[in-house]
Amino acid sequence: MAGITGDMYRDIERTLLSEAELRETVAQLGRQISADYAEKNLLLVSVLKGSVVFMADLMRAVTIPCRIDFMAVSSYGAGTKSSGAVKILKDLDMPLAGVDLLLVEDILDSGKTLRYILELLSAGKPGSVKICTLLDKPVRRQVPLQADYVGAVVPDEFVVGYGLDYNERYRNLPIIGILKSEIYKTREGLSL
Ligand code: IMP
Ligand code: MG
Repeated sequence: MAGITGDMYRDIERTLLSEAELRETVAQLGRQISADYAEKNLLLVSVLKGSVVFMADLMRAVTIPCRIDFMAVSSYGAGTKSSGAVKILKDLDMPLAGVDLLLVEDILDSGKTLRYILELLSAGKPGSVKICTLLDKPVRRQVPLQADYVGAVVPDEFVVGYGLDYNERYRNLPIIGILKSEIYKTREGLSL
């Protein structure tokens, strides 16, 4: 069955960001963040699992001293739309007081997930909080939220790869691609 065995690329409608484009995008973000946080106490916080590939590349594109931490939430079931319900599965290990926190996200869609995470993290009294998202889907926003660093603006399509999943699949695809709609239309709500 497509997406489970065989070539992942056959489920991709078209490539949005190639490996070379992703490299350039991440390098650019790394340069900008390194300049902006040169005199600060940078903590990169990645929201698992979607941003794990982006985080791994971005942290190596940052040339100033920094620390990393991870947090896990679940906002999606098996579908392609945010439920708005966010569950914390893993909280941060580090105290946030006085830290310049940069949230590293895979994609900013409705913004509901990030809004919730931001509220939660601000209780730890960090020195500053900013958002770095690889992808931004501004037309889908339901809460007023803007990222401080954006890798690329993408159209209102369901994208996978470079950490992003559909039903936990395609995360290991090295590109960002638009998933063929027949994949989620025929399998919406079904577990693989
Ligand atoms: P939001 O709460 O609607 O902003 O949802 C954000 C989360 O939904 C992201 O961190 C992703 O895990 C997931 N998501 C949103 N859009 C896509 C997409 O196009 N492909 C894969 N995951 C997505
Ligand atoms: Mg996801």
